[in-house]
Amino acid sequence: MKLDDYSSVGFFYDALRQRFPYFSGVIQKQIDTFGDHWLRLFERELEVLFAKDKKRIDQAVMGYGKFALDSMKLQVKFQKTKAYDNKTYEEAASEVYQNKEYMFGLYLPGILLSHYLWRHHFLQHMFFLEKFLPLVGSGDGKVFYDIGVGTGFYSKEMLTRSNLTGKGFDLSPYSLEHTLMLLEKHHVDKRYETNLRNIIENPVMPAAEFLVSIEVLEHLENPQIFLDSLSCMLIPGGYGLISAAINAPNADHIYLYRNSDEVAEQLLNAGFEIVDSSVDPAYSPKKDGDLVPVNVAFIVTKR
Ligand SMILES: C[S@@+](CC[C@H](N)C(=O)[O-])C[C@H]1O[C@@H](n2cnc3c(N)ncnc32)[C@H](O)[C@@H]1O
Repeated sequence: MKLDDYSSVGFFYDALRQRFPYFSGVIQKQIDTFGDHWLRLFERELEVLFAKDKKRIDQAVMGYGKFALDSMKLQVKFQKTKAYDNKTYEEAASEVYQNKEYMFGLYLPGILLSHYLWRHHFLQHMFFLEKFLPLVGSGDGKVFYDIGVGTGFYSKEMLTRSNLTGKGFDLSPYSLEHTLMLLEKHHVDKRYETNLRNIIENPVMPAAEFLVSIEVLEHLENPQIFLDSLSCMLIPGGYGLISAAINAPNADHIYLYRNSDEVAEQLLNAGFEIVDSSVDPAYSPKKDGDLVPVNVAFIVTKR
């Protein structure tokens, strides 16, 4: 592997090899699969976030490693039970979204880095860049909503790659804090507003030209009610990017989607039209019957 021109990725790789040798092969795998494009994007993100500070890179590696280990253990259990742990939305919220230590210690760094390190998450990012962004264009004078901002990664992408103004909604104060931190580092926070708000049965008006909601549906007890709200938040002729995790147990995944058709059906029920989609498995099944985590992303519009 030749990382001489990518020193932040090099520092990250060294820390990962030291702390979680089992996971360190992922760097070479991503380079083999996605090449220089991936390296350039990851280098830039690490540079902006950590400015080559090895101590902070190490902290991020610790957070990512713990998050990935957690997901791996849950996936092993899921292969046997074929079900998510039986949890209420309130239990997941207090265990995860309202738990500062968990959010900053592993959840937020884990998700942020997974956008580069997990094959299916990076494929979703490519789908966003290649298929959704051209629909946004320059974004001059237009607004987007990001619902369930989490790390703020997709808000950052929308703001740095267009002139849109944005509003982010999340019920976790820590997600909003992380989002603001990320946007400040990318110098795009002036075009953005964060809102501590539970979107279920509580749509935001007026409707916006664009919306993104990435990996939120599986966190809800009833995603259909949430999608009905989202549908009210998009103007006719506007575009949305909505994604969901399938067969992917996490500490806060409640609603088990078993395939992408189940998500598509709920989108159509909510009054969306499907323009395009990308269905991306995390890896190839190791044996027959293995349940592999899949990410599905839909570009939707409304008449
Ligand atoms: C997996 S994260 C989303 C990932 C994020 N889009 C990203 O790319 O980093 C799920 C987020 O949804 C938020 N959330 C869950 N239910 C919500 C609701 N009803 N309204 C608003 N936010 C919600 C959680 O607090 C959490 O920050």
